[in-house]
Amino acid sequence: MSAELEEPASPTKILFRNMTLADTPGVMAVERASYDFPWTEGIFRDCVRVGYVCRVVELAGQIAGYGIMTMGAGEAHLLNLCIRSDIRRRGVGRRILEQLLDHARKHGITDMFLEVRPFNPAAIRVYEAMGFERIGVRKAYYQAFAGREDALVYRLPL
Ligand SMILES: CC(C)(COP(=O)(O)OP(=O)(O)OC[C@H]1O[C@@H](n2cnc3c(N)ncnc32)[C@H](O)[C@@H]1OP(=O)(O)O)[C@@H](O)C(=O)NCCC(=O)NCCS
Repeated sequence: MSAELEEPASPTKILFRNMTLADTPGVMAVERASYDFPWTEGIFRDCVRVGYVCRVVELAGQIAGYGIMTMGAGEAHLLNLCIRSDIRRRGVGRRILEQLLDHARKHGITDMFLEVRPFNPAAIRVYEAMGFERIGVRKAYYQAFAGREDALVYRLPL
């Protein structure tokens, strides 16, 4: 996917583009601030190296969010979607997700899947607003402070 420039005349311009290895420190800053159990920088580097679809949002030269998706056997899987807290509720998460969905459609993907924690209402709202439907539960999928937490599994036919 090529870079896409938004609001080019604005000093706070938002750029949606593909993630590079050089972005991973900035990505990690957002990741650590956003999750109790963040991914490591190595995981992000691996995602870029193996060619997963990795998009970032850049705001005033800083990483302000990202989305990561895998594709294979006609299915796409959303692995991570995260927006820096100060720019949430401005439609940025939805826009990254739309870009990933467009990319998947262009590559002949028929279904997109994702997991989400049951107590993540913001993410659940975003996904349900975009038409994802809950199809099941993966038991003890996530690390949690006390043991493990289930994941809700969502699917969107493309
Ligand atoms: C989930 C997340 C990516 C959403 O990103 P965002 O840019 O704030 O989402 P958007 O502004 O695109 O929201 C789109 C719609 O989702 C819903 N929504 C988003 N956040 C919401 C919230 N906190 N409460 C209720 N609804 C919410 C709204 O319907 C919203 O549209 P509206 O603002 O026009 O009403 C963001 O909250 C985030 O990074 N959270 C921490 C990381 C995380 O939990 N990621 C998901 C892992 S599965």
